[in-house]
Amino acid sequence: MQYFLNPRNTGIIKNADGRGKVGNILCGDVMEIFIKVGKNKKGEEIIKDIKFKTLGCPAAIATSSVVTELAKGKTLKEAMKITNQDVIKFLGRLPPIKYHCSLLAEQALAEAIYNYLKKSKKRIPRELEKKHKEILKFEKEFYEKFKS
Ligand code: FES
Repeated sequence: MQYFLNPRNTGIIKNADGRGKVGNILCGDVMEIFIKVGKNKKGEEIIKDIKFKTLGCPAAIATSSVVTELAKGKTLKEAMKITNQDVIKFLGRLPPIKYHCSLLAEQALAEAIYNYLKKSKKRIPRELEKKHKEILKFEKEFYEKFKS
């Protein structure tokens, strides 16, 4: 409830380095994450700033906020490993019917990192490429199923 009533990192980043947008056609919720990439003292790329814009249910807002909190300051390598289970663990619990909301948060973050790597012509790790393709496939199948 705290993360729904007082979400952290809301808004957009103009000229974001990466942007990830995902949605669920069944509930109609849409989540967008923006990242700014910088470097840490070791020269590794990190998520220097991150914001989200979510049109969705309370759980979608809370999980978007938590995923941004978990990712902020992390290296891209670490951030791309954040899962919806990490989000649920951070929140303490989430009703099972709301698990898909946390999955959207994981996917929006992954897509923002993917978008950054793609735009900057950097190597995309196999796992992230796989996740990206699954997101696209899922969206396409869902759209085909419910378009009429
Ligand atoms: S009900 Fe769909 S994201 Fe929450």
